[in-house]
Amino acid sequence: MEVLFRDGLARIGRFSTPHGELETPTVMPVINPNIIVVSPSEMKRIGVRAIITNSYIIRRNAELREKALSSGLHSMLSFDGPIMTDSGTFQSYVYGGVEYDNAGMVEFQKSIGSDIVTILDVFTKPEDPYEQVRRAIEVTRARVDEVDPGDSLLAGPIQGSIYDDLRAYSAKLMSGSKATYLPIGGVVPLLESYRYADLVRIIVNSKVNAPFSRPIHLFGGGHPMFIPMAVLLGVDIFDSASYVKYARDGRLLFPDGTRDASEVLEFPYWSPLRDMQQRDIAAMDKRERLYWFSLHNLHALFSEIREVRIRIEEQTLWEYVQSKAMAHPTLLEAFRTLRSYSRLLERYTEVSKKNSFMYLDTRSLEHPSAVRLSRFLESFVGGDPVFVPRAEYEGNRGAVISRYERSQRPFLVQWMHGWVPMELEDTYPVQQYVGPEARLIPDVGSPLEEEGQRLRDFDLEKVRAIADYQFGKGAGRVLFPDGTEIVKSRATGRIRTISYGGVQVATMRPKDGLFTLTMEGARRLHQGIGGKRLRVFVNRESEAFNRAGYNVFFKFIVDFDPEIVAGNETLVVSEGDDLLAVGKASVSGLEMASYRKGVAVKVHHSAG
Ligand code: GUN
Repeated sequence: MEVLFRDGLARIGRFSTPHGELETPTVMPVINPNIIVVSPSEMKRIGVRAIITNSYIIRRNAELREKALSSGLHSMLSFDGPIMTDSGTFQSYVYGGVEYDNAGMVEFQKSIGSDIVTILDVFTKPEDPYEQVRRAIEVTRARVDEVDPGDSLLAGPIQGSIYDDLRAYSAKLMSGSKATYLPIGGVVPLLESYRYADLVRIIVNSKVNAPFSRPIHLFGGGHPMFIPMAVLLGVDIFDSASYVKYARDGRLLFPDGTRDASEVLEFPYWSPLRDMQQRDIAAMDKRERLYWFSLHNLHALFSEIREVRIRIEEQTLWEYVQSKAMAHPTLLEAFRTLRSYSRLLERYTEVSKKNSFMYLDTRSLEHPSAVRLSRFLESFVGGDPVFVPRAEYEGNRGAVISRYERSQRPFLVQWMHGWVPMELEDTYPVQQYVGPEARLIPDVGSPLEEEGQRLRDFDLEKVRAIADYQFGKGAGRVLFPDGTEIVKSRATGRIRTISYGGVQVATMRPKDGLFTLTMEGARRLHQGIGGKRLRVFVNRESEAFNRAGYNVFFKFIVDFDPEIVAGNETLVVSEGDDLLAVGKASVSGLEMASYRKGVAVKVHHSAG
C-alpha cells in the first residue's frame, strides 16, 4: 500500500492487484451473479473502481460455475477492474454451514481469476461467548496456512466479536500471516443495528494492531452515515450489498441516514432521481424501481466517498466527522467513543494540518491536534497545567494570574476555552485557528508596554518554547542558546530566521509557526539530544545517497525513534549515528516499520 495523502489514520492510498491499481478509500458494490441489478459497466460511470462477488454462490450454481471456470470472472461480469471474491463465510453464518472446505474455496476463487481471494473464515457474532470467539480466531488464522493464493491478494479476516482484546489478538495473528489484505469481519449484525460505538472500538483495535502497509476492509460497511468515521479510524475499503438490499425495501441512502422512498418529497442534486417526482416512481414497475433506487444508493455511497477524499486531502476529516456526529444519536454516541481514543489518534497525527484548526464546539478540545497541545502545556511550566480552562480563569482570576507571574510567563492568549502562553501564539493549532478571536489577557500586561530588552528575551523564550513543543522538552535550549540571533519579517513582524554566530539554524514557517531546520540546526539537535530520539537510522547502502541529499526510502531504514511525529523534522543518521541529513518524516514512528515502499523521510538538507 502506498499513501498519497494522509490525515491521521485516514489515508488516500493505492495498491496493486492483477487487474490494475486500486485507489482507496472506496466501496466495492456487491454483485450477486444471479441477479445483476446495476451492471458493473454502468457502475464504473458512478465511480466504482472495484467490485466484490461471492464465489460460493457461483460454485454452487452449475451454470454460473461453468461460465466462470471457462471464461473467467471478469468476462462473466463484464468488468475489467479488480474483482474481490468472498468465500461463503457469510452464508455459513446465515444458514449454519456450507458444503465446501477452505482450501477448495480458495482454489476455486483462484481458478475463476479473482484478484482478491478470501479464506473461509469463522464468523464471530456479537453475542458469542469469549472462549468460542478466541477459538474462531485461531481456526481462522490456521486456515491462512492451508492455502496458496498464487498471484492474487489473500484476504485474511480479522474476527473477534465485540471483545477489544480479541480483535487486537486477531489483528496481530493475521499480521503475522501471509494474508496481504485484511478485512474486519463479523460486523454485519452491528452495522445493521446501527451499533456504531461498538464498531469504533472494533476498528481501532483491529487497525492499530495490523501493519499499515496492508489495506483494511470493513465487511459490509456500506452506509454513507458511517463511512467518514470508519475512514477516520483507518478503514480503506468498504463493500456494500446495502445499495440493493435497501432498494428492495424501498429505502434510500442519504449522507446522514436512510429514508423511505415514498416519503421523499424532492431528491438531492446528486441523485439520479433528482428530476423525478413521486408519481414518476409510482408509475414504475418493480424492476425499474429496484434499478433506480439501487442507482440512487450507489450515488449516495460514492458522493460520500468523494467528500471523504476531499476531507483527507485538506486534512479536515475530524471536523467533518464531528459535524456529522450531530446527524443521528447513534453517530453521536459513536463519536463519544471515538473521542475516548483521542490520545491514541494523536500519535498518528501530523505535526500540523494543512488547514486551520476549526473550533466548532467543546468537543474540538478533543481534536488530536488540541490533545497534543494540551499535553505539552501540562508540562510546560513546572508541571502546572498551563492550558487553563476559561471557567477556572473567570472564577479564579487572581490565582491564575499570579501563577503565571510566578512562572515569569506573563502573557497569555485566548484559545478555545482556555488560554495558552503567548510563546505559541504563532504556532499551529493556536494561530492557524478559526473560532472565537484570540486576544491577550489585558490585566497581565501587554508586550507593547515592556522595554526592548525584555521583548528580545521574550523572542528567545518564544522560539525555545516552540522548539520544545516541536521536538520535545529541552530542545529549545539545545537549538537556541543564549546569544541566538532572531530575525523578524519587516512586513509582518513575525519571526523568520534564527541564527547563531552568523550561521542559520532554523527558519520559522509562516504556515504553521514551526521550524524547518538547516544542517546546523540538525547538528545541534543531534549533539544535544541522544539515543534514538528524532532519528531514523539507515543502512550502509543508503548512507551516501542521503548524505548527498536524496530522500530516505522505507526499505533502507534499520531503526528509528518510535515517537517520530508525521510531517515533523527528522534526523537521518547512519547505523553508527553519524548525521547524514535532515528532512520531513512522511509517517509517524508507529507506522514507520509497516511500509516497505515509498519515501520515509523527504530530505531537505544534507551533510554533503
Ligand atoms: N461478509 C460479511 N461479514 C463477513 C465475514 O466476517 N467474513 C467473510 N468472509 N465475509 C463476510
